[in-house]
Amino acid sequence: MRIIKAALLGLGTVGAGVYEVIRHHQEQLQELVGAEVQVVAVLIQDENKEREVANDVLVTNDIKEILAIPGLEVIFESIVGAEPANRHVDEAIERGCHIITANKEMFAKHGDVLLEKARENDVQIGFEATVAAGVPVIRTIQQQLQLNKIERVQALLNGTSNFILTEMRQKQLPFAEVLKTAQSLGFAEADPTNDVEGIDAFYKIMILSQLIYGEQPEWATVDLKGIASVPEDEIYHSEGRYKHMAELKKVGNHVQASVQPVVIDDQHPLYSVEGVDNAVVLETSLAGTIMIQGPGAGSKPTASAMLEDFIHIFQTNKAAVLN
Ligand code: HSE
Repeated sequence: MRIIKAALLGLGTVGAGVYEVIRHHQEQLQELVGAEVQVVAVLIQDENKEREVANDVLVTNDIKEILAIPGLEVIFESIVGAEPANRHVDEAIERGCHIITANKEMFAKHGDVLLEKARENDVQIGFEATVAAGVPVIRTIQQQLQLNKIERVQALLNGTSNFILTEMRQKQLPFAEVLKTAQSLGFAEADPTNDVEGIDAFYKIMILSQLIYGEQPEWATVDLKGIASVPEDEIYHSEGRYKHMAELKKVGNHVQASVQPVVIDDQHPLYSVEGVDNAVVLETSLAGTIMIQGPGAGSKPTASAMLEDFIHIFQTNKAAVLN
């Protein structure tokens, strides 16, 4: 049977999730892509940390060693931050590897250039996991709404923020305590600044802007606030519910975006989106208003998006070979 050699860049909550899902779904993956999927290498930062991977997997902090592996076909990238992830991905594309990424900062900053480079090198980039984890927002927009014009997007894109706002309101708990729970559940980033300051949701709405409108607004023009700016008392006692809302729309020739905590009432479609769930409301020209909702963070939902990307890429390639 054909073997697809894969490498993981990053073995945190997401990378470890990808490793486990591959290990536990070998049979289904074989059926879906017609090949055995082998994780042959893992890029980590600290070589001295204990890792739970099989003995025959190369574990290294040297990207060159990984990219030199003969026949390496696909990279699952889940490093935090734009660099060095962008350099690694750029080099992997040059070597002819497909890329599947969960890295929203890198993709918001460099996605358009990387996609162009991927086209030139005849490889694909899957980025479903960069927005709303396993909720298939990217593929819905790419494949199911091609004739429709998307006139406005309203979205909850940070699972940690929605989880914190929900738990605080329902249980009248302090911000710091709920944030710790979000970290222990693997929702919040190791450094949660980007979650609670709104930056994580900002990167995600920029990715959607690029996808939907082919451009991003000037970053400095975007109103950006996180949930850390809301006084605790207001979350406990406000009429309506605080939600961390990202909005996107085209006004004339310009794309406008904002990312901020807002109070919404029970008539709003996002009112009942609670806990770690993300949701994206798309106002479309033909299909009307569509909402997609589901868990927006966590190891398994994010790994799910990456493996679905993998299947999509390798099924397309399988069909091309057979034809
Ligand atoms: N920390 C992110 C969140 C993870 O809470 O939404 C998923 O991108």
